[in-house]
Amino acid sequence: MSKGTYYLTTPIYYPSAKLHIGHTYTTVASDVLARFKRFTGYDVQFLTGTDEHGEKIQKAASQKGMAPKEYVDEIVRDIKDIWKRMDISYDIFIRTTDEHHVKSVQKIFQKLYDQGDIYKGEYEGWYCTPCESFWTKTQLKEEKLCPDCGRPAELAKEEAYFFKLSKYQDRLIQYFEEHPEICLPESRKNEMLNNFLKAGLEDLAVSRTSFDWGIPVPFDPKHVIYVWIDALSNYITALGYGSDNQEKYEKYWPANVHIMAKEIIRFHTIIWPAMLMALGEPLPKMVYGHGWIMFGDDKMSKSKGNIVYPEPLIERYGLDALKYFLLREFTFGYDGTYTNRSFVNRLNADLSNDLGNLVSRSITMIEKYNDGIIPEGKTAGAFDEDLKRIATTAAEKVEKAIDKLQFHEGLEEIWKVIRRVNKYIDETTPWILAKEEANKEKLDTVLYNLADSLRIISILIKPFMEATTTKIWTQLGIDKEQCTSWEDAAVFGKIPVGTQVQRGEILFPRLEVEKEVEELEKINQAYFKKINGIQEEEETVEMEAKEEITIDDFDKLELRVAKVIKAEKHPKADRLLVLQLQVGNETRQVVSGIAQHYKPEDMVGKSVILVANLKPVKLRGIESRGMILAASNDKKLVLGTIDSEMPAGTLMS
Ligand code: ME8
Ligand code: MG
Repeated sequence: MSKGTYYLTTPIYYPSAKLHIGHTYTTVASDVLARFKRFTGYDVQFLTGTDEHGEKIQKAASQKGMAPKEYVDEIVRDIKDIWKRMDISYDIFIRTTDEHHVKSVQKIFQKLYDQGDIYKGEYEGWYCTPCESFWTKTQLKEEKLCPDCGRPAELAKEEAYFFKLSKYQDRLIQYFEEHPEICLPESRKNEMLNNFLKAGLEDLAVSRTSFDWGIPVPFDPKHVIYVWIDALSNYITALGYGSDNQEKYEKYWPANVHIMAKEIIRFHTIIWPAMLMALGEPLPKMVYGHGWIMFGDDKMSKSKGNIVYPEPLIERYGLDALKYFLLREFTFGYDGTYTNRSFVNRLNADLSNDLGNLVSRSITMIEKYNDGIIPEGKTAGAFDEDLKRIATTAAEKVEKAIDKLQFHEGLEEIWKVIRRVNKYIDETTPWILAKEEANKEKLDTVLYNLADSLRIISILIKPFMEATTTKIWTQLGIDKEQCTSWEDAAVFGKIPVGTQVQRGEILFPRLEVEKEVEELEKINQAYFKKINGIQEEEETVEMEAKEEITIDDFDKLELRVAKVIKAEKHPKADRLLVLQLQVGNETRQVVSGIAQHYKPEDMVGKSVILVANLKPVKLRGIESRGMILAASNDKKLVLGTIDSEMPAGTLMS
């Protein structure tokens, strides 16, 4: 039976560039919450999508010489691909270019206009194009910078429709005071109250005439509707609000939680609630603004070249590893810094050493000491009670943590169980028990307890790491229908005696930390360059020109194709190779300063360019009759060769 409905949303992302692990973070957290709620018996709607209108998108498209819709279609396809690859279990993917959305937004605008909440006026203000936000002078940072992103805002004036935001100020303040969950975490709520609500709300310009990539104002189509009014409405239009069929809306609204990062919390806790108040609709139950994933001191930024994308991480370490890292490493609600080292360390310590190792040790022992059959645990041993208590009380703690969106805390509770079971193995030393037939019953108990602890752990991690759960079930020999509901995680002794286990692949291979970090740096950098079309920088060479020569001067040179038939190290000089070259039907000896760049065995068979009429010299006691050409600087040396086969001795000119 359903425990009721649960509606949750991610922001709808701008399809203006490829999504990175910042977007992944929000979406993975939301996905885990959605999975958890489904698993624990709720009727869930999980919404994500794309925010496709606005000047920023129009500009990006025109820079590429594309129509806006054509431009966003391509990026949206890529976004859907990555969510598919990440197994994101959304129920609805809304695009603000969807026809039903466009119609409903127009209805919303019309209704607010008809009832006097939207009126026509003239707008003068500071506009930040990247953020699509207008600011008042007092909101700007010094030097006219956007308070959200710090980039310059421009003074703009236009005829516009206004939403009477100021009218809702007092009701919003009261709402904030009575419903603390309207803005979480707490620190954000205080910021909204003090910096915006109590500082005074001004009416909001909600239409634009300076560009046309947007939803037209239904009664004045030279205006398009402000992109944030368009975007925020998605949370209800996606459920059919304003359409002929409002069934879903009636069922799932108000949302249980809107999830996003802190920079757009203002839109979601002030403008959106005011719109809903004006529409006479209930407000979302919770709005949560998590922190930013940073690199060093910076939010990820393309210009700084420090964007990490999910694809290479999934490719190399698997989806569950990335999901685990994101939700365990960062405290939800606070900023955190991504480093390749923290990624590798987390995987190695928590997934490979703690979890992977526990599964592999336990299954191996059941195979080794009881032919792979889970035995009956008859006797209670010294450490069993503590193990059982810790294992069976975790589910409740995990649930509490997830309900507060404290995913890192939930995972930590699960890892307490994992570490406790690992310790149980060390305490009970099954390999010693196995030596004496008299200890058989004790050993059986330990093996049973291990198997059942694994069962509990596999249930606890399921909302976070579905694929890993399935792998553990396969190894344990249990299937979905058996003893694997969320409730079953709070009960010990549910795995059936006699079940056949089977060792499987290593869940998370152990990493060599130093080597792996180095490798990961390279992989992430290369992927960033590939995605952003950056070529390796070409070195510019400083040239110092030589004196001009005539063609007659040049003609004095005898350049010939020569084939290396033998090469060895110079006995007295590390930098020199002694080469035997075939030139026509003669063999020439040339001493060449290339030993630091070419091994003798690599030289044999190469065709090189020989200066054949150079006066012979002795180099460290060995005669050299000619010189071969090479390009070199202080880092590199590369031999000059010919483009394709020519007989050795051929003259070059
Ligand atoms: O703001 N760390 O879209 P957007 C953590 N279209 N989260 C990050 C992040 C980072 N470094 N970078 C991005 C918009 N995010 C609007 C939303 S909703 C009605 C309209 C995540 O593409 C985080 O969830 O700029 C943030 O709020 C969102 O992406 C911004 O996505
Ligand atoms: Mg943004």
